[in-house]
Amino acid sequence: MGSLFISFEGIDGAGKSTHIARLHQHLSGRGLDVCLTREPGGTPLGESIREWVLHQPVDVVTEVLLMFAARAEHLDRVIRPALQAGRVVLCDRFTDATMAYQGAGRGVDMALLRALADKVEAGTRPALTVLFDVPPAVSKARLEGLKSPDRFEREQQDFFARVRQGYLDLAHAEPERFVVLDAGQPMDSVTAALLQAVEARLP
Ligand code: TMP
Repeated sequence: MGSLFISFEGIDGAGKSTHIARLHQHLSGRGLDVCLTREPGGTPLGESIREWVLHQPVDVVTEVLLMFAARAEHLDRVIRPALQAGRVVLCDRFTDATMAYQGAGRGVDMALLRALADKVEAGTRPALTVLFDVPPAVSKARLEGLKSPDRFEREQQDFFARVRQGYLDLAHAEPERFVVLDAGQPMDSVTAALLQAVEARLP
């Protein structure tokens, strides 16, 4: 069985994690060797960076560099070895998150982000990216229920509107890589659409 690198994206509150967990269960049940991981995170250093960047105030340049530092380590220690071993990698966020959150959301120069991404990725990119798309008002309503929201989850609706548009622009630019799902639909129908999209790409 050949390897496959899939990433999952969407604004906070899109319901991404629930669907990824269901997909993981489905693929493992079919006997596939699945590596489920996330960004920022996936390694001890990456998880430390995650803890810091989600909860401590940092300036935007530091935020960008921390995201890429976590990604470089993650690619080196987790993603590339898993792909080389022929596994299916399910990655909860990847470079598109930096383009959408730090680029579209915070206004960091896209060309700079692209240059850093090219260096860090060195050609290892997802074959499929699933974008869970919801309007910012839906995401805001879901996030309001959180007891202790992190630094991103506390952002205002206009920030999420920019991030969402950033994601949609990325999807528009690379229609062969992206599948955009309407995550405002009932959970079960979103999961069904997700399973169908992934099944179509399995090697
Ligand atoms: P999560 O809550 O989906 O696990 O994602 C963690 C947060 O980190 C989420 O609010 C988006 C943010 N993030 C960025 O801003 N840039 C990035 O490059 C990544 C990977 C995540």
